[in-house]
Parts: sequence; C-alpha cells; structure tokens
Amino acid sequence: MIVIRDMQPADVDEILAIADVQLGENYITVDDLSRCYTLVAEDDKSHKCVGFCLSYVEQDGKAYVRTVAVNPDFSGQGIGTALVSKAVDYLKGLGAKSIFSPLWKHDGIVNSDVIFRRNGFHPTREISDYWYADSIAKGYSCPVCGKGCHCTCVMYEWLKG
Ligand SMILES: CC(C)(COP(=O)(O)OP(=O)(O)OC[C@H]1O[C@@H](n2cnc3c(N)ncnc32)[C@H](O)[C@@H]1OP(=O)(O)O)[C@@H](O)C(=O)NCCC(=O)NCCS
Repeated sequence: MIVIRDMQPADVDEILAIADVQLGENYITVDDLSRCYTLVAEDDKSHKCVGFCLSYVEQDGKAYVRTVAVNPDFSGQGIGTALVSKAVDYLKGLGAKSIFSPLWKHDGIVNSDVIFRRNGFHPTREISDYWYADSIAKGYSCPVCGKGCHCTCVMYEWLKG
C-alpha cells in the first residue's frame, strides 16, 4: 500500500534521486524541499519514498503545485494523482481560490495532463523557454535539452468551484 504523508528529513536523499531521474539533474535541491510544502508517497512494504510533490504560496498569495514525480517502477498506480490531490487539499486549506501549475510539454504532450485534469486543473496558456533563465542561473540539466532548457511549459490552473 502507498501512504501519502508530509516529508521527513530522512526522505531527502530518496526524493532527490527520483527528481534527478524524472525531472533532470539538480532541478530540485535541498533548499527547494525546505522552502516548499513537500508531500511524499511511501511504499509501506519497503518504507521507501516512491514519489513526491512540491507546493507553495508566494508572498502575493498565488498558490502553486510546483512539481510532482513518481519513481518509474511505481507508475500507473494512481500515486501522482493522489499526491496532487493532497497538495490541492493543503493549498485549499490555506485559503487558495486558484492554484497554478507549470507543466512540462515534451514531444507535443504534457505527460502529467491526466493527473492534473483528474484534480480539476485545466490548461490556460503556453510559455516557451519557461525554465531557460532559471536553468542557466541554477545550473541544472533538463532531461531533454541538457544545460539551458528550451522546453515549453503549459500553465494549468485550478479554480475554486
Ligand atoms: C507524470 C507522473 C507524475 C505520473 O505519475 P503516476 O503515479 O504514474 O500517475 P497516475 O498513476 O496517478 O496516473 C497515470 C496517468 O498519467 C498518464 N501518464 C503517465 N505517464 C504518462 C506519459 N509518459 N505520457 C502520457 N501520459 C502519461 C496516463 O494517462 C495514466 O493514466 P492511466 O493510468 O489511466 O493510463 C510520472 O509519470 C512522472 O514522474 N513523470 C516524470 C515527471 C513529470 O513529468 N512530472 C510532471 C511535470 S512537473
């Protein structure tokens, strides 16, 4: 069984290992984990972290689900959907009336489209080179572009009904 819970310090290495493979080397840092509200999916047999989701609220009150990733060995079991659902609950609990999520478009598709739509999000607009400046400043590698990410983001939004 998979349990969704808050991150604990012992999860950090496992989260970063999933992030490096699924999102690109050094895209997520220890600093990101401490600044965001971090949920993890734990496999209750092995007690290993098999997925995570980061969310946060900016000073101006804008709420974001920043990213979600699942160990490929555990894909297709509803873990990504459940992580986003808990993140939305958390942000709603803080009073969010809308939630944004910049999702990665690769080869013409947003592979996390389904899990966000299942949680009530819809695509609003595309932004090219969304991560470029950040990838240069922070020196992380995109799984597709390497250094200097030219990928497009599709901004998804959830609105309180
Ligand atoms: C996207 C991701 C989080 C999905 O996690 P998951 O636990 O497998 O998701 P769920 O089991 O809840 O949902 C799976 C659904 O997502 C869709 N999906 C997953 N990977 C997909 C892919 N590569 N291409 C297209 N659709 C995909 C499928 O439609 C699937 O639906 P189904 O099970 O009914 O067939 C995971 O594949 C991942 O970590 N990907 C790399 C990182 C990433 O792209 N993160 C999102 C952007 S920040």
